[in-house]
Amino acid sequence: MNNKVLVTGGTGYIGSHTVVELLEKDFEVYIIDNLSNSRIEVLDGIYAITGKQSEFEKFDLCDQDRLRTFFKNNKDIGSIIHFAAYKAVGESVEKPLKYYRNNLLSLMNLLDGMEEFHIPNLVFSSSCTVYGQAENLPVTEKTPIKPAESPYGNTKQISEEIIQDTVYSSKFIKSVSLRYFNPIGAHPSALIGELPMGVPDNLVPYITQTGIGIRDFLRVFGNDYNTPDGSAIRDYLHVVDLAKAHVMAIERLFEKKSTPSYEVFNLGTGKGVSVFEMIKSFERVSGRKLNLKVLDRRPGDIEKIWADTRHANNELGWKTESSLDEAVKTAWDWEKHYRKSNL
Ligand code: WQD
Repeated sequence: MNNKVLVTGGTGYIGSHTVVELLEKDFEVYIIDNLSNSRIEVLDGIYAITGKQSEFEKFDLCDQDRLRTFFKNNKDIGSIIHFAAYKAVGESVEKPLKYYRNNLLSLMNLLDGMEEFHIPNLVFSSSCTVYGQAENLPVTEKTPIKPAESPYGNTKQISEEIIQDTVYSSKFIKSVSLRYFNPIGAHPSALIGELPMGVPDNLVPYITQTGIGIRDFLRVFGNDYNTPDGSAIRDYLHVVDLAKAHVMAIERLFEKKSTPSYEVFNLGTGKGVSVFEMIKSFERVSGRKLNLKVLDRRPGDIEKIWADTRHANNELGWKTESSLDEAVKTAWDWEKHYRKSNL
């Protein structure tokens, strides 16, 4: 087994946690990241946790010549985990071409490189956003894909199709798309975590920033949904559990001997948690009370979604280990640690 893995977007939130899990399983890791939404210091955090170095190169995957040179110089890579992409839903509505160009071109350049340099394994970072508001819950991998709500979501749908078509036309490329539900939390060491630039869009970083006093209050987007407490429901999973699934996906690709091989897995806990339940969890683990303001629903938000995890449980052998409170505690520890060392 060739244990050299290229992780694109490896200094980002999910990427950095995945690099840690790979290094701890004795994979050798190459990271490519243009640092457009992450910081180089993340590499120090990864090293502090694992005591192992990964190779790092800073460039943009849209630069095909540069990527070819990288592959030419590193002919020993056997697998790629592709995280690098823009991910802000709202921005993608305002600047769709920025999203289509970046997210699709980078993927196509990688696939060209896989063909040319004979790299067999690809794990792709996809999203439950492809399901939209599903009619039946929980959602399985067979739940119909809905027209995307945003250009960002559309790039995930199109990327999955591009990968599938490439796998079916190729003699040797195998791939797994992982559809994440809502990743939260940080490494328990608090040495790496989520680093939202500016005002966070996502619930948990907004909660921890409110808890520490950077935000005056938490905006609760809607309390009139058709849910038990009126707030929207999501399936929040610990980022370390999610990171481990990537290692298992790579191992599974090594086991697949015949092509074509393309698989999709939902990654979540299987349990829906409302915004108010999330707030309670934070208040329990932090001992702090949050100021809340209930506002209108956020445009584009769905009411409720959670994963059917049986396929990932049975086929990938993966399931989440952390409870909600454990995951939220790591998010809070990271917020405190990060603010202490950066203010
Ligand atoms: C969760 C819930 C908000 C912030 C996003 C992306 C999606 C996917 C997963 C990757 C919602 C509410 C939030 C706040 C709040 N990512 N909320 N106050 O919307 O499920 O999805 O991450 O592909 O594409 O859009 O996650 O964390 O933004 O929101 O009340 O300040 O919390 O309305 O109900 P979401 P989120």
